Amino acid sequence: MRHRTMDDALLQNLLSGLSLNGQVVSSPSTAASLHPDGGLSDAYSKSFHPRNGVSEYDRQKMVEAERNERIMARKQQLVELGQSRGIHYVTYGGEDHLHQIMDLITRDFSEPYSIYTYRYFIYQWPKLCHLALNADEKVVGAIVCKMENTKSPFGAGDPVRRGYIAMLAVDKSERRAKIGTALVVSAVESLMNYSCDEVVLETETTNQAALRLYENLGFARHKRLLKYYLNGVDAFRLKLWLRFPPSNREKSSLAPAQTGQATQAEEDSTATVQNS
Ligand SMILES: CC(C)(COP(=O)(O)OP(=O)(O)OC[C@H]1O[C@@H](n2cnc3c(N)ncnc32)[C@H](O)[C@@H]1OP(=O)(O)O)[C@@H](O)C(=O)NCCC(=O)NCCS
Repeated sequence: MRHRTMDDALLQNLLSGLSLNGQVVSSPSTAASLHPDGGLSDAYSKSFHPRNGVSEYDRQKMVEAERNERIMARKQQLVELGQSRGIHYVTYGGEDHLHQIMDLITRDFSEPYSIYTYRYFIYQWPKLCHLALNADEKVVGAIVCKMENTKSPFGAGDPVRRGYIAMLAVDKSERRAKIGTALVVSAVESLMNYSCDEVVLETETTNQAALRLYENLGFARHKRLLKYYLNGVDAFRLKLWLRFPPSNREKSSLAPAQTGQATQAEEDSTATVQNS
């Protein structure tokens, strides 16, 4: 069902213009320079050029802070949009939610998960499981995430703290009302609050709805994974950089070649669930 309101039009403006048009990118600097939400527009870059006495590190911190503020402001607008339709957002609250989440996700996913998979994620990271409830307190949308430390792709240096979106689904009767977007923004905000450096997920290359939703929010196509799913479909690994990578913050010359290939360290830390 499609619900169009004035709020939708406003949100469309907020969310528009961030797509990378299907390009595969391998580094935050590439992604940031490609999409306006990365904060590296021409005007922005010029005002903080090293010539002006601002270091690359400080400039990146300002870009990060500005983008993070925008994400939080956007979440508030999405919450208000939901309220106007009788939808509210909560984090995981117990077994009753668990069964509803399973029902919702099982309806849409090509590779069914066992209850142990749900428990693995939700019991360990309950605050990273965001739900949309309707006026009857029924779960109509869910996002399930986790966090992990991975090796820095730049060799020595702090590990990268990675947020991983394992599952996302919205009930068919409530789609195209920005509930999916609100859930992703809520999850990203939580992951930011846990100091994550990046957010990653995989989705089928044929899932236009998911690709558009994530790319509207600034996620970039980081890698194509051949025959990733049991049904033989390829996946795109999508990535949103929340911070410039720790070991790269003051050594931008160490950034990997921008070939669209993930580094070995990233390969080693490939996330575990294949059907987000
Ligand atoms: C993908 C999914 C979560 C989207 O949820 P949603 O609440 O309908 O998404 P939103 O309303 O926030 O949509 C945001 C944008 O995504 C894109 N989008 C969403 N559904 C789309 C569709 N069916 N076709 C094309 N684009 C779509 C649009 O750009 C949309 O913005 P618009 O409505 O202003 O055009 C939902 O379709 C779903 O549950 N699908 C089945 C499970 C799934 O594929 N999960 C994702 C796995 S990674």
